[in-house]
Amino acid sequence: MTKRPVIIDTDPGIDDAVALAIALYSEELEVRLITTVAGNVGLEKVTKNALRLLQFFGKDIPVALGAARPLIKAPIDASDIHGSTGMDGFEFEEPTKDLVLKEHAVNAMRRVLMESVEPITLVPIGPLTNIALLLNMYPEVKDKIAEIVLMGGSTGRGNMGVMAEFNIFADPEAAKIVFQSELPVVMLPLDVGLKALVYPEDSEKLKGMNETGRMIYQLFQKYRGGSMKTGLKMYDSTAIAYLLKPEMFQVADTFVDVELSGTLTTGCTVVDLKGYLGKPSNAKVCIDIDADMFKQWFMESLQKCN
Ligand code: RIB
Ligand code: CA
Repeated sequence: MTKRPVIIDTDPGIDDAVALAIALYSEELEVRLITTVAGNVGLEKVTKNALRLLQFFGKDIPVALGAARPLIKAPIDASDIHGSTGMDGFEFEEPTKDLVLKEHAVNAMRRVLMESVEPITLVPIGPLTNIALLLNMYPEVKDKIAEIVLMGGSTGRGNMGVMAEFNIFADPEAAKIVFQSELPVVMLPLDVGLKALVYPEDSEKLKGMNETGRMIYQLFQKYRGGSMKTGLKMYDSTAIAYLLKPEMFQVADTFVDVELSGTLTTGCTVVDLKGYLGKPSNAKVCIDIDADMFKQWFMESLQKCN
């Protein structure tokens, strides 16, 4: 079976860490490159976290550092959710920097895409700054991008403001560039992330499952994306779930744009499910998820880890 080539753009981040574990141990995905972007915490910290995870998993995937700040807005972070390190809760060994490329993430993505025989799927699970820079600086890569499967946005209310989700709110201008790119975009919004939950009984199973499960269990003790009582939200894993088991989602082909100048709604993803704006579809939006199917897939996927 040929593996699906992917590039993961990430801001680890505890839920990113889980998504990376599933992707790196999947027999169906070939992770060609990991690029880091400032988001949950600053660029140095998210990069160090990516290296910590690769060393922990024993996976030699090249890593390239990307944007340290959004295109226009001042940086924000989510250290209140992931801890000051961005991945509080587990004592990782100090990672080597052997996997770090000298190239900027945008240049590394361009090289990997242009060198690839087949188109590659981009999987952004943080702010879209790197992806927007790539598309603006090197439009010639578009023919080598199979799909952009991103975690971000919401068809309704937000988690970083009344109407804005964190990844989009962090860099709304970048998000607008991606949605206007005319590339095949798949959006995994809060609507599905809020239902992709890990409950205490699942977390306890992880603890005894394997080394990766034990590590994730410890990260979960510090993760504030939800709660043990109401369930921990596996936002970023929904992007990997779409790649590996898309049948768990209800998908709507529709028009999406990003509010940039709303006094109260900047960063809102305007998902025009009823076609009020009369614009052609530019994204597949996952508007619902089979929560039981996700939970079974999630636990089975982590069973494959070491
Ligand atoms: O809103 C959830 C998203 O913001 C996830 O990607 C999480 O890691 C944070 O980056
Ligand atoms: Ca993330």
